Amino acid sequence: MASDLHRSNRTVIALHENPEWWAPFQVAFDAEGVDVEQWLLTGEGELDLDSVPPEAVFWSRMSASAPSRGHALGKEQARGVLAWLESHGRTVVNGRGVLELEMSKVAQHAALRAAGIDVPRTVAVLGGPQRLVAAAERVGAPFVTKHDQGGKGLGVRLYGSVEELADTAAELDPPANGVWLVQEYVAPAEPFVTRVEIVGGEHLYSVRVSTEQGFELCPADACAAPGAAPLFALREGYTPPQLGAYQQFLRRNGIDVVGLEFVETADGRLVTYDVNTNTNYNPDVEAVAPRSGPRAIARLLAARAG
Ligand SMILES: Nc1ncnc2c1ncn2[C@@H]1O[C@H](COP(=O)(O)OP(=O)(O)OP(=O)(O)O)[C@@H](O)[C@H]1O
Ligand SMILES: [Mg+2]
Repeated sequence: MASDLHRSNRTVIALHENPEWWAPFQVAFDAEGVDVEQWLLTGEGELDLDSVPPEAVFWSRMSASAPSRGHALGKEQARGVLAWLESHGRTVVNGRGVLELEMSKVAQHAALRAAGIDVPRTVAVLGGPQRLVAAAERVGAPFVTKHDQGGKGLGVRLYGSVEELADTAAELDPPANGVWLVQEYVAPAEPFVTRVEIVGGEHLYSVRVSTEQGFELCPADACAAPGAAPLFALREGYTPPQLGAYQQFLRRNGIDVVGLEFVETADGRLVTYDVNTNTNYNPDVEAVAPRSGPRAIARLLAARAG
């Protein structure tokens, strides 16, 4: 971890594990004139617990999808580092409690519901295929299976019947933390979901994400298939009706940087199923959006450091 030279408490230190997602944030911090350093928590290294953290403001953007990059232990490393930082009273944006939410869709579901937000009927399952089938019987078809520790839509599958799951459950990839979700499939009235980008409690913009090409969607540039039709589009001038409930949920859970995803159903439900606290911003949307996600984060961190 970098030297203490030239560091001041106006410095921001970003904790993450994926350098491929970093470039737009560096550009934003540079544009805002904010010094930023990166600590890469890929699941390897050491932490001397007699040491004192630098006088800086910290920002965690650890991602649930870290195991897909060979960084399964990054979560454990981040838990330790965040506990150490917080024990020394350092300001951490999207701190330790937020990491626990990022890493568990069960925790997200419970926190969303506690804030009065509509969520899909969900049963969490620890165990093998037979338990999944029993859970699917309780939820009823159609349903999806997904991993408690998600990311990039990996492992999200749609089933039209319990029999379909019973026939194929043994082939499913196991979840990173062993926990499955069997969840009501919430059919969108039109083939898209909405991702609501919020920084420091402020709604930056909402993004329409097409569901026509399946579930494995990621807003970062690296995930866009070359030549494919745009999957992400700005919902211009749109304010989600449940924004007030979202802002209350974020305050209660100490979340400053987030992309919340919901489905609008034909019968008027607005059902929220995902909380992304390491949010990536789609470059095509950023190019036309009224405000920039990375710039808003850089400004928020500068204000917290001030
Ligand atoms: N209960 C559901 N009903 C209908 N569609 C769903 C449901 N859950 C997930 N999906 C679809 O699958 C996609 C991926 O699901 P989800 O966001 O839960 O996974 P994820 O791994 O966290 O993905 P990401 O990291 O890309 O946000 C969603 O964007 C949505 O299109
Ligand atoms: Mg999602």
